Amino acid sequence: MDAVRIYGGKCLEGQTTIQGSKNASLPILAATLLINGICEIENCPEISDVYHMLRLLKSLGCEVERKGTLVRVNTEKLSECDMPSDSVGVMRSSIMLLGALLARTGRVCMEYPGGCVIGSRPINLHLQSLRKMGVVIEENETGFCAETSRLRGTVLKLPFVSVGVTENAILAAVLAEGETVIKPAAREPEIQALCEFLQRAGAKIDGIGSNCLVIHGVNRLHAVRYRVPADRIVAGTYLSACMCTGGRIFLRDAPAHHMESVLNCAVEMGAAIEYETDGILINGRDHEATCHMLATGCYPAFPTDMQSPFMVVMALSGQRGCIEETVFENRFRIVPELCKMGADITVHGNTAYIGSSKLHGAIVQAEELRGGAALVVAALAVEGTSIVTNRHYIDRGYEDIVLSLRQLGASIELA
Ligand code: UD1
Repeated sequence: MDAVRIYGGKCLEGQTTIQGSKNASLPILAATLLINGICEIENCPEISDVYHMLRLLKSLGCEVERKGTLVRVNTEKLSECDMPSDSVGVMRSSIMLLGALLARTGRVCMEYPGGCVIGSRPINLHLQSLRKMGVVIEENETGFCAETSRLRGTVLKLPFVSVGVTENAILAAVLAEGETVIKPAAREPEIQALCEFLQRAGAKIDGIGSNCLVIHGVNRLHAVRYRVPADRIVAGTYLSACMCTGGRIFLRDAPAHHMESVLNCAVEMGAAIEYETDGILINGRDHEATCHMLATGCYPAFPTDMQSPFMVVMALSGQRGCIEETVFENRFRIVPELCKMGADITVHGNTAYIGSSKLHGAIVQAEELRGGAALVVAALAVEGTSIVTNRHYIDRGYEDIVLSLRQLGASIELA
């Protein structure tokens, strides 16, 4: 069955190593298309989104080899062809291939991308930015064809911050003619990782980590080996689990320097964090919580991807709380499922109000990636047995959530 079974009510105790970042590896894999040669990507997580991205690269004529978390991509035989619709359909990051492919082959036809149903997630800004860079795009009901004789640098003034649009524009700009300015650029650590990868390959990018990126187009990039940083969202998920169950866990390789807002929030909600050179040590329930509200935002604010796991922390705290979601308009899909477990949560507009109630085990359904992981977190903490169905959503981003949580002392198995 496509599910996990959790025997809840146990304190977490143990250690696990945090996998490489999903949201960093996907655009970096797309970026290999810009390089005529063999790139080696280390610490590339073994998750289904990466599998789909590698499949897309293969379908474009790349040779892809995978040994555990090491991925080798040879783009020398890249050909111009349409992308397989089943991979494009399941994963929003397929849109990332657009900027890179246009830079390399000048023509791309694809269907509209899929991804988690956490909002309308249009791609209008992706297409608008590329049009400004000299791409002619013809849309139809199911997808579009984009074509350019040469990408041109320009000033991209975006109406708001978007991670994906920033990444796509970077990928289109590094080999474009002249200078591209992206403002406001997203500052997420995964964008910094993409820029570092490209810089090592010879790209010229100023302002990395700031909200204004300036990219000076170069004629070619060269092959590189790059290690993907650890996944701050996966680390945050296990942190939230420890806050829900209590206990002490060590998260090896957790990228604490990129988790400031989440770690600060965790401390305000009662956890204690000790910073070690190779990870973080968490005491899930160290003191009384002093804060019961949070608002999501673009980095460095509290990440929207951590919103559902922290909703669970709040629901289990025995206190009232509230969460304002400012990034996606439909990111409270976990609420009806948590209510099946006894939670008292109501949603008004973009704010969820969490009441105080006792939760219990139940059969619940993952509706999307992070919400699915958050349901597992809830199930770990409550008395009784729970089943979380639609495990495939969770597999999109977690290498082996069952193994990792077992290493942390949980009673959990595939179902
Ligand atoms: C990325 C992350 C995702 C994270 C999100 C916000 C990856 C693979 N995914 O998603 O995990 O939750 O950033 O941190 O890295 N928008 C438009 N038009 C566009 C593009 C976006 O209106 O053309 C809107 C979206 O609907 C959303 C907002 O912009 O409301 C932000 O989305 P964006 O930052 O682009 O998120 P993703 O790149 O899809």
